[in-house]
Amino acid sequence: MTASWTSENLRHAIGMLRFGGRPAETVYDSIGEDFFLALAPGWLNLGLWQGDGSDAAEAAEAPRRLVERMAADLPKGGVILDVGNGLAAQDPVIAGVAEPRQLIVLNITMSQLRAGREALAEAGARAVNGDATRIPLRDACLDGLISVEAAFHFPSRDRFFREAYRVMRPGGILTMSDIPTNRYPRGAREGLAAFSQLRVWGLGRRAAATPRQIAASAERAGFKDVQVEMVGERVIGPALRFVRGRLDRAHAGREMARSYELAARIMVAQVDLLWERGIIDYLFLRAVR
Ligand SMILES: C[S@@+](CC[C@H](N)C(=O)[O-])C[C@H]1O[C@@H](n2cnc3c(N)ncnc32)[C@H](O)[C@@H]1O
Repeated sequence: MTASWTSENLRHAIGMLRFGGRPAETVYDSIGEDFFLALAPGWLNLGLWQGDGSDAAEAAEAPRRLVERMAADLPKGGVILDVGNGLAAQDPVIAGVAEPRQLIVLNITMSQLRAGREALAEAGARAVNGDATRIPLRDACLDGLISVEAAFHFPSRDRFFREAYRVMRPGGILTMSDIPTNRYPRGAREGLAAFSQLRVWGLGRRAAATPRQIAASAERAGFKDVQVEMVGERVIGPALRFVRGRLDRAHAGREMARSYELAARIMVAQVDLLWERGIIDYLFLRAVR
C-alpha cells in the first residue's frame, strides 16, 4: 500500500496554524493506527536500541525493550496507572512485567483508546479518557505510575507531577520517560527546526525543559529519590538512523506519495539537527512518592 495523506493529516496541518484545546489529540488522531514512521505496528515510542539502528530487525524489539526497562521499576502486584498509553501495545508488556492487581490507562486521545481495545483487553486494563494534569482518580489509590514518552505533551509538567503525587500512595513508584531540551536553539537553522517541531507536535514553548528542570519539578511536587538517566544515544540516535533507512527503502520501492515522503524527510532532518547539536535528549526518570 502506498503511504499518503489522510483527512486527519489535513486537519492536523490546518491545526498547526492554530491548535484547539487538546492539541495532542489532534496530532494523534492524525497519526492514526499505522503511522509510517512508527518503528513497529502499534508502537509510538522511539525504542531502547541495541546497536546503532542499522539492523532493521531491532525495530521490532526496541520499543518493547524500552517499556520492559521502565516497567521493571514498578512494584509487583499493585494498582498501576499508565499515562499516555498510545495505541496500547505497551499495556500487555506492562501487565506481564509488573503483574498488577489492577491496570488503568489514561489517554487524552479517544481514537487511540478505541484502536487499542484488543491490547487493553489482553492486558486486563481499564481505559480512561482524560488529561494527565487532571487525573480523574481519588487520592492515594495507586502503587505505581508509568508514563512512556508523553510528558512533553502535557499542558504543564508541574501540574502532572502534582497530580501524580496526589493519586499515589506513600512509597509508590513513578517511572517515566521524556524528551528534555538542553538549551535554546541558536541561529536560523536551529530556530526553524525547533519551532517547526513544536508546531508539528502541537507543543507550546513550555514543553522545552532541561533534565534538571524536569527533576526539580518532580521534587517540588513532593517526590523523593528522584533519579534521572540520560539515554538519547540508545534511543534517539538509532531510531533516526533506522527511520532514514526506511525512507530510503520506501523511496526505492515507490511505497510513499512523493509529497508525503518529502514531508517525512524534512521532519526527520529537523529532529536530526536538534539531536546532533545536543539540543534534545531522552531521559528516564524514577522517583518515590
Ligand atoms: C508519543 S505518544 C507515546 C505513546 C505511548 N506511550 C508509546 O510510547 O507508544 C504520546 C501519548 O500521550 C498521550 N497524551 C498526550 N497528552 C496527554 C495528556 N495531557 N493526558 C493524557 N495523555 C496524553 C497521547 O494521546 C499519546 O498517546
